[in-house]
Order: sequence, then C-alpha cells, then structure tokens
Amino acid sequence: MGASSDGKSLSADWRRTHDLGALRKQHVGQVVTLNGWVHARRDHGGIYFIDLRDRYGITQVVLSEELADAQQISIEDVIAIRGEVVAREANNVNPDRETGEIEVLVREFLTLSKAKTPPFEVSGGDEPSVDVRLRYRYIDLRREPMQKAILHRARFVSALRRAFEDQGFVDIETPILTRATPEGARDYLVPSRIHPGSFYALPQSPQIFKQILMVAGFDRYYQVARCFRDEDLRADRQPDFTQLDLEMSFVEEDDVFAVWEKALADTFREALGIEIETPFPRMRYSEAMERFGSDKPDLRFGMELIDVADWARTSDFKVFQGALESGGRVMGLCVAGGASLSRKEIDALGNLASEFGAKGLAWWKAGKDGGSGPLARFAAGDLAGKLMEVMGASEGDLCLFAADREAVVHRVLGELRLHLSRRLGLARKGWNLLWVTHFPLFHYDEAAERWVSSHHPFTAPEDWEMAGDPGKLASRAYDLVLNGWELGSGSVRIHRADVQERVFELLGIGEKERAEKFGHLLEALSFGAPPHGGFAMGIDRIVALTAGIDNIRDVIAFPKTTSASDLMCQAPSPVQAEQLEEVHIALSGKALENQDVLSQVADEKKA
Ligand code: AMO
Ligand code: AMP
Repeated sequence: MGASSDGKSLSADWRRTHDLGALRKQHVGQVVTLNGWVHARRDHGGIYFIDLRDRYGITQVVLSEELADAQQISIEDVIAIRGEVVAREANNVNPDRETGEIEVLVREFLTLSKAKTPPFEVSGGDEPSVDVRLRYRYIDLRREPMQKAILHRARFVSALRRAFEDQGFVDIETPILTRATPEGARDYLVPSRIHPGSFYALPQSPQIFKQILMVAGFDRYYQVARCFRDEDLRADRQPDFTQLDLEMSFVEEDDVFAVWEKALADTFREALGIEIETPFPRMRYSEAMERFGSDKPDLRFGMELIDVADWARTSDFKVFQGALESGGRVMGLCVAGGASLSRKEIDALGNLASEFGAKGLAWWKAGKDGGSGPLARFAAGDLAGKLMEVMGASEGDLCLFAADREAVVHRVLGELRLHLSRRLGLARKGWNLLWVTHFPLFHYDEAAERWVSSHHPFTAPEDWEMAGDPGKLASRAYDLVLNGWELGSGSVRIHRADVQERVFELLGIGEKERAEKFGHLLEALSFGAPPHGGFAMGIDRIVALTAGIDNIRDVIAFPKTTSASDLMCQAPSPVQAEQLEEVHIALSGKALENQDVLSQVADEKKA
C-alpha cells in the first residue's frame, strides 16, 4: 500500500535496513526497507521501475500499479519502500552498477516527502548554467560528479590531517574575528557593536597567530584554516577558501620540505592510491623565470624560453636591437611542427601576446633558405641557419619572439607557452611537483612607487647583510607547484625583532604603522622567539587538481560566484536599519540607495 508520511518522525518500521549501495546477490530472498530519492522512473505497462538513490548508490525497485498511489511517485520524491530482494534475469543485469544483479519487489511504500519538479535533472541531461547550479546548489550537489567531488575532498583532507598528525603536528584553532593580516589582498571587515567605530578583519591567513604560537612553544602546529580575501576571483580563487596551514620551530627549508613531501606522499597513497616520487625537485625562482617565464612552471612539457640576444645583435632588426640597447631582452619559443598553424592562428597568438603587454610578436617559420614570416627578411643567408641552431628548430617549426623589458618578455612567452601546450595537447600525464625557492624578498610596486614584500613582511632574507639594491635581495620564501598551479607558499621567518624592523624600514612601514598593525608580533618576537618557518597549501586547489576539476568552485560545497555572491542564500545582502544602528554604521551614496530599496520591499511585505 502507498501512503504519505504524516509528518511525524520516520517510524521505526520505515527506517532503512540497508543503504542503496549495499544489496547484492547474497541478499536475495530477504525483505528489506530502503529510503531514498527517486532518481528515475520507467513505466512498463502496469509496472514501474524506480531507481532509488542515496549517497551510497542506486538500487532498482519495482512497483506494480496495484499499489495505491504508485503512479503518483515522481522524480526526486523521498520515499521509503519495503519489499523482497530478487535476482535479476541474466539479460537484465546492469554491470555498471554494484547493485545491478538484484532488484527489490516492493510490497508497500511510504512517501516521506514530495518534491517539486527540479529546475534541472539530477540523473544526467545537459549541464545547467553555473548560475542555476549555484542558485539550487542542494540539487546540484545531488548530481553524481558533485557527490564524487565533495566526497573526494573529505577523503583527501582526512588523509592529509592524518599525515600531519602522524608526524607530530597539533591542531590549534586561531580566531576568525581578528585584525588585518598582511597577505596583500583586501580585508573583509566586521563592524564592532561594543566598540563603536572599530572593526574586526577576517583573517587572510593565520600567519601572525601561527608565528606567535611558535613563540608560545607550540612547535609543529597545523590547522585546516578558513581564510578570507577580498580579491578578484578566478577559477583558482574564492573569497572564502581553505588552507592546510602549518608552522614549525628550530627548522630550515629542508625540514619544512621533508615534512610536506612525506605528508603529500602519504596522502596521495591513502586517498588516491598514487605513489609520488620524493623528494620533489627544486628550482630557483630566477631559473624558473628564465626557462619557463613563470614562477609556477608546468614541467609536463618542454618548449622552454630561449635567449636570442646574441643572434639578435648580428641581425639588423631594429626592434630587437632597440630592446637590447635599452637593457631589455630578446627571447623566443620554438613550437615544434608549428609551421602548420594558419596565419589567423598566428595572429591570434599575437593578440594574446599584446594582452600580456607585448608590443608585438615577431614570428618565423624556420627554414634554411631563410624561412618565412615577418622575421624572414632579417634572417637571410647565414643568419637563417644560425637562428635555427639557436632555437633548436627544424624545418616545419614555428619560432615566436618577444623583445622588451625582461619582465614583459618572461610574462608574454610564459603565457604563450601555456596557451600553446593547451592548444596542441603537449602536457604529459603525471604529478609534477616542484619547489620553487629563493623568491625575491621585495618587488617594486610601480603604481604605489614603493617596495613591497613579494611574499609577506615576515619572510627572512637569504642574506642578512641587506646592502645594495632591494630588488636583488633573495628571500627564504618558497612555493610548491603542481602541474603549473601554485599549490602553496611558505618561508623561513624572521625571528629577530631587529631584522624585522629593518625589513619594515625598507618597505616604508613607519614606526607608528608597525606598532599599530604588527606591534603584538614584534613584541612577541622580543620575548624569545625560536627560529621558525612554515607553509600553507590551498586545499581547494589540490583537491580540484587531484579530482581532475579545473575550477575550485566545484570542490566547495557552497562556493561564491566570480562577483563574490552566494546565489543560494543571497549573500551579501542589505540589512535592516536597526541592525546597522547597533553596529554604529550609517550608509551613504550607492549603499544608501540600496538600503532604501530593501526597506520598500520589507514595507510591501508587511502591508
Ligand atoms: P599565500 O598567500 O601564498 O600564503 O596562500 C597560500 C595558498 O593558499 C591558496 N590561496 C587561495 N586559494 C583559493 N582562493 C584564494 N583566494 C586563495 N588565496 C590563496 C593558494 C596559495 O598558494 N600565510 C602564507 C603562508 C605561509 O607563509 O606559511 C600564505 O597565506 O594555494
Ligand atoms: P614592424 O617592423 O613594427 O612591422 O614589426 C615587424 C614584426 O615584429 C611584427 O611581426 C611585429 O609583431 C614584431 N614586433 C614588433 N615589436 C616587437 C617586440 N617588441 N617584440 C617582438 N616582436 C615585435
């Protein structure tokens, strides 16, 4: 018989005896109770085949139309059934499903909850737009790829925690309501009710707290830490994301690397069944930039940048000469077999190059007879053979050249390299983990006309004598790179207050600002700080990469859009005037207009 749940809690009679991935041939003959969602239904002349779904699997149940209300069961209803497990006929076995050898003949069922027609199919169909998926995230999350991704995340993070705990790391929580941390993005602010005019900032990372924990003696801290950054969002950035954050005392780079190599090897083995090779290779920042035009080089393919300055000096192409004379660089890429690219495709590469700041993109289809393309007339005679030699090119290859300031040349060719590898499918399969070390301590922010920390101001300089050009100072900061993604960053920290003061001086952070922003850290460092260092890895990123997903949004249960909105719960949202008064906030301008609109909506609702 069919019935509707009367809204009381699930009575003991209807509690499931098995989940929907559990039943096998050995259960044939048993009477079972199952609970789940109606994933699909097929009608076969008086018989209804229903795929019942929960997070463990799908089980086929069979109802006859004699069961009252059986025809009313619709997709995504939540039902309970009771019936007998029977073996399927050989030709009806579904080898793609673990429960595919059996089905359950329903004797009675109960509708626990009716479902409205869902805005998109859970069981397949076209992938809905991102906005619709995020608006109805609970339905999106029912879909198999999302279930897999979220469960993969849970497994991965669980293994990661174990891997660190096995090495003696202790989990310590740090505050969410805190003050600004210097990770370089904008802060999310929270107004204080009790302290009119004062604000908390949500942490961009637990950086300062974890260093203070070292001063407090908690060697080997770790945390799965939520971080908040108000920055421009992309496929690998969310405003609200998670780090595996860690700090250790009495260590140098090698110690931090060894801990992470072991933890990642253990995690890959446990969560993915993959053996990764340790130790990971290391490369200095300067080498990464010079060979790959990137501080996060993808090592799954070659096509390295080639210095063509010596050749350029012998040719009379003014653009190249000009760049060299003004202290710039001339470098190239050799695209094997690239001569088959059409003119249109090469022009598109030129457009891409200018998006990354190039003034032009010279190209040359290699050939001993001088080749072809805009550079051909500057590569006549001997120069053609020499250029082929420098570029390591053969007939049929395409060479691309950029001449500019070094930073522009690196960026343009680095980006073209990545673009071409995607276009031509060059990347080998595998897990190419790499430590990039010796990042510059500072870089010059041209807009702000001052030096800024490349990592953060607590990173130790490589050499303690900080004389000369600040731009040339190497730091003890390192990144971990996986297949061209920056997975995480860290550094050996400054543990002496006097060195920290000198770094602040170079950064133009005056005494007042220092005391105000970092006074508590500086003071802590002056009370006996151990040498320490650490690292933080973006969990969303590594989970996405290991799941073969290219946007971290899809490994986060409730992510935000690229405009930092939560479409499901409509955050951020305006708040009532009284609530603003409580936190001593008065709105102006655009914010005030939005507030008016909200009050009108509220008044209309009351009326
Ligand atoms: P960093 O700022 O490099 O270092 O951050 C560490 C890692 O966190 C991840 N990450 C993000 N993931 C998703 N969305 C974002 N908006 C986002 N921003 C960063 C990246 C990044 O590599 N306190 C230092 C670490 C340290 O020095 O120990 C820090 O936060 O994977
Ligand atoms: P032009 O002499 O300006 O017509 O340029 C000849 C070729 O050189 C064109 O293919 C341009 O795209 C290219 N070119 C111009 N400026 C640069 C540059 N800074 N670096 C590399 N190629 C350039």
